[in-house]
Amino acid sequence: MPAVPQHSTIAVTGAAGFIGGWVVRDLLDRGHRVRACVRDVHADAKVGFLKAMHPYASGRLTLHAADLDQAGCFDDVFPGCDGVAHVSHVSTYDDPEYVQRTCDHIIASIERSGSVRRAVVTSSVAAVISEADITELARRPVCDEDRYPDESNPKRSPERGQGYSIGKVIAQRAFSEAATSSSAGWDAITVCPADNVGPIQSAHQKNGGPWQHLVELMLRGRCEIFQGTGPYRPWMTVDVRDNAACHSGLLESDRVSNGERYIAWSTERRSYEDVVATIDRVLPELHHDPGPIVDATPDRHKARADEFRSIWNGLELRNDRIRAAVPISFRLLDDSVRDCVESLIAVAGVQVSRRAG
Ligand SMILES: NC(=O)c1ccc[n+]([C@@H]2O[C@H](COP(=O)([O-])OP(=O)(O)OC[C@H]3O[C@@H](n4cnc5c(N)ncnc54)[C@H](OP(=O)(O)O)[C@@H]3O)[C@@H](O)[C@H]2O)c1
Repeated sequence: MPAVPQHSTIAVTGAAGFIGGWVVRDLLDRGHRVRACVRDVHADAKVGFLKAMHPYASGRLTLHAADLDQAGCFDDVFPGCDGVAHVSHVSTYDDPEYVQRTCDHIIASIERSGSVRRAVVTSSVAAVISEADITELARRPVCDEDRYPDESNPKRSPERGQGYSIGKVIAQRAFSEAATSSSAGWDAITVCPADNVGPIQSAHQKNGGPWQHLVELMLRGRCEIFQGTGPYRPWMTVDVRDNAACHSGLLESDRVSNGERYIAWSTERRSYEDVVATIDRVLPELHHDPGPIVDATPDRHKARADEFRSIWNGLELRNDRIRAAVPISFRLLDDSVRDCVESLIAVAGVQVSRRAG
């Protein structure tokens, strides 16, 4: 299967989002034409940063309205595109049939395009490590592309908080299977990004995330240990710009095959408390005062804090496959935190809690 060639045309879904915005910029920097798909091309608070990119002025970057809840949503956008980067979220991950339907909408538009040769689908590291029973991570601690959450666990359900991970696996399989059975000559590669940290390009992106939003709260001096992805889970990160480069690289790579997935992470991991401390270490001139760090973890989990931390620290994070598939050198988390902080202040006007004097 030929890779997407140089100077090709790529459609990006979720282009106004934190990751999608960087995928757009990275593809443009590589010389491609980009069709940026957003829900509302007139919502300048969200899409103004795309219109401000120089290639928008020339027409090499164009904006297109599409809601992937609607059948045929990309029928007018994909014809003429060589590749699709399907980065966007869906409206909910807690309804598997709905998730499958959104995939079917995109797949049908790819089939009808007559031109798309590769789709890169944004999944998540949640489709690798999100376990209904955290002790499963201790039993299978090697985190590479072959690892899937324990799908036989009856607690793996949307009701128990696993909808996101389930939905991402559904999407991966939907695209891979559709490409396998298609006679239209396209393939599907999945990328599983970890926790994206780095600069926002538009003020509204500070509310996506969740990682940049957590950095915003740290800057404001409202630090609470984040429980959303698992008790005492450290940040396991990728710089959003490196993640974008992984998306572009997988579109272009001739070393990948239909159905494969690639984890995008630097393999650095850092506790919430250490991320808080990073801000003052990398930007001492801010005089950042994080205030007290609140641990609102439920008592039943607090009692197992050492066990949880030990399970997370025992994970073996692997990124050798993506490094073999695309040219990528992952940034240090220190640099991602610094650039995230500076963008939150400069782009979103976040007020920093500072030490006196
Ligand atoms: N952020 C992370 O750390 C992280 C980690 C792993 C995986 N991911 C995955 O990366 C992708 C992007 O995440 P992000 O952090 O960039 O999120 P984000 O900033 O919230 O952007 C997501 C975009 O999805 C679009 N969207 C949502 N529902 C849609 C629908 N029904 N139809 C069309 N577009 C829709 C939104 O478009 P509009 O703005 O046009 O409304 C939004 O711009 C997601 O698939 C997410 O699961 C993120």
